Amino acid sequence: MSPSGGKLPDKPWAGRFSQRTHPAAEAFTSSLAFDRRLWPYDLEGSAAWARALRRAELIGQDELAALLEGLEAVRAELASGAFPFRQELEDIHMNIERRLVELAGPVGGKLHTGRSRNDQIALDERLYLRDILRRVDDGIAEVQRALLGRAEEQLDCWMPGYTHLQRAQPILLAHHLLAYVFMLARDRERFLECLARVNVMPLGSAALAGTAFPIDREALARDLGFAAPSPNSMDAVADRDFILEFLAHAAILGMHLSRLSADLTLWATAEFGFVEFSDAFATGSSIMPQKKNPDVAELMRGKTGRLYGNLQAALVTMKGLPLTYNSDMQEDKEPLFDTVDTLEAILQVAPPMVGTLTFKVERMREVAGAQYATATDLADYLVRKGVPFRDAHEIVGKTVRYGLGQGKELAELSLDEFRQMSPLIDEDVYAAITVEASLRARAAIGGTAPEAVRRQLEEARELIARGSRA
Ligand code: ARG
Repeated sequence: MSPSGGKLPDKPWAGRFSQRTHPAAEAFTSSLAFDRRLWPYDLEGSAAWARALRRAELIGQDELAALLEGLEAVRAELASGAFPFRQELEDIHMNIERRLVELAGPVGGKLHTGRSRNDQIALDERLYLRDILRRVDDGIAEVQRALLGRAEEQLDCWMPGYTHLQRAQPILLAHHLLAYVFMLARDRERFLECLARVNVMPLGSAALAGTAFPIDREALARDLGFAAPSPNSMDAVADRDFILEFLAHAAILGMHLSRLSADLTLWATAEFGFVEFSDAFATGSSIMPQKKNPDVAELMRGKTGRLYGNLQAALVTMKGLPLTYNSDMQEDKEPLFDTVDTLEAILQVAPPMVGTLTFKVERMREVAGAQYATATDLADYLVRKGVPFRDAHEIVGKTVRYGLGQGKELAELSLDEFRQMSPLIDEDVYAAITVEASLRARAAIGGTAPEAVRRQLEEARELIARGSRA
């Protein structure tokens, strides 16, 4: 045994055991295959813990120096790929600790004083998520910028707006694109609110009851750049709500980008003909030579399913666990990492995909007013002449029915025909039911009038420039 200077047992906790772990059990319980990505955070936390031990005078200055030097040597191995990972050491924490002892000598055995893997893993995950949340915020901002850039270019492009996927009222393409910019702004807000709850320091909670040594947890929190130490050690090691929150926000963000993908794939059909994807963001068919498929957008939509699944998996894992730490919680990592990888992949591909779209402006403008898209404006015209809206709605409904029977669009009806529907209709009706008039009328805040959309552009620009992280 190591205290007598002999060979190290193959596991740090081996003292109590008289039999070796079954190889199947060893493989089954190991998290090393996936938690190794936490190594930079594990090292950061360990160095801070060593400094805290020093402040508590549990180790000497030379011991601190030896530990920090040893941790740097471990870092060098991990960074270069030379680190000898050992599955029998279960997880990244024990791998690093054991290697530290090998490289720094017996002083390495002092690092785990007053600490547990339970507060260590909670710390590593919080440090990791803090980084990820900042990256995700930057990534969403890039998608916003791409959408905003296209909206700025397309202030003159009319198009049909839809409800129930039926043509509803004319809108500006910029208005439609900006809708997503505002959705993404709320996603950024959600992630940043989550950051405030992630940014709480669990180290010093030890296994569950708190560390038995005089650790200054406030100094430790400052050292690691956290806002404060966690107030309750059991809470700190038992809960993973900060991960669930991240997964939930990621699922909602995925939903938004999935709907953008759904819009774009629909618009790219011959039937709509509103948009063409760049060749760089489409793929071909192995059998049909003419095909150009919007795979990137489709997969942005498809991968959202994994984001939902990961949230569900993590929620179910946590449900019903008695306090405090349970090994079930080791299962939090793969859903978390998969969501992070999926989000990062989506956020990489979305901005250039949006940036390289070709909008078929002619076609969009051409169909913007078709199929009675300005019928509401005819009703509004009657309202301005004093007709109660419900009656106006009825009159216009009948006018549409009549027009459909005649095979005529609204503007193709003669004044006589209009007058049969309502004697209040005059020659000025034709100006009131153009697409321009329909758009211009919707000038209230948030509407599709060019001036209202310009205001939205301003607001969106400011939101992005301010950065929700300011
Ligand atoms: N690998 C573990 C996890 O990922 C670290 C904490 C383990 N603690 C324990 N007492 N087994 O959750």
